[in-house]
Amino acid sequence: DFGKNDSFWLFGYGSLIWKPPPHFDQRIPGYISGYVRRFWQASEDHRGTPEAPGRVATLIDHAHWETLTDHHESTERVWGAAYHIPASKVAEVREYLDIREINGYSIQFTPFHPASSLSSSSATPINCLVYIGLPENPQFLGPQDPDVLARHILKSRGPSGENREYLFQLEEALLGLSKESSDAHISDLVRRCKMIEVAEATAKAVEGIG
Ligand code: BEZ
Repeated sequence: DFGKNDSFWLFGYGSLIWKPPPHFDQRIPGYISGYVRRFWQASEDHRGTPEAPGRVATLIDHAHWETLTDHHESTERVWGAAYHIPASKVAEVREYLDIREINGYSIQFTPFHPASSLSSSSATPINCLVYIGLPENPQFLGPQDPDVLARHILKSRGPSGENREYLFQLEEALLGLSKESSDAHISDLVRRCKMIEVAEATAKAVEGIG
């Protein structure tokens, strides 16, 4: 655990990339290693409901990921954004995160590597707090068939909005971080969702003609 009022760095790899915490004095794009980002976490509070949970991103550590059957390649790096939370705002930000984000996530610390284009800060990794959906957390779902997952995302919504919007915003935010920050798992899900939507719109149009 860490001191209740010490300043800290927070790593965002999901909605935190485009929806920053309420207070921070620095934001740095970069990556962490040793984890895989997957849409394998049930969301009952943001992009779904307890009756119909949506799907959001979590991180799986490599050792555990290698024991699972997955459909996508793993990448060496998980890109995201690190936020520095000043000591004066720690209590407020922790309360915000615990209330808004903790649904099924646990806290870990891991080295964060600032993007190499940031020459002044690229040398030393920064110890960052990160929320992980551990397999023992009830919201952790494990491997999902990509097509079933895409269809599930398309039909889910929660208090924060449509589940598809979370997926599409995540891809857009990732592409904005650096030239190398795309994520094959995310891009594949976006492509599947768009193909399903086109197919459904076409089927509807044909129905209208017939
Ligand atoms: C994120 O957006 O990176 C995130 C925040 C809280 C829990 C899990 C992920």
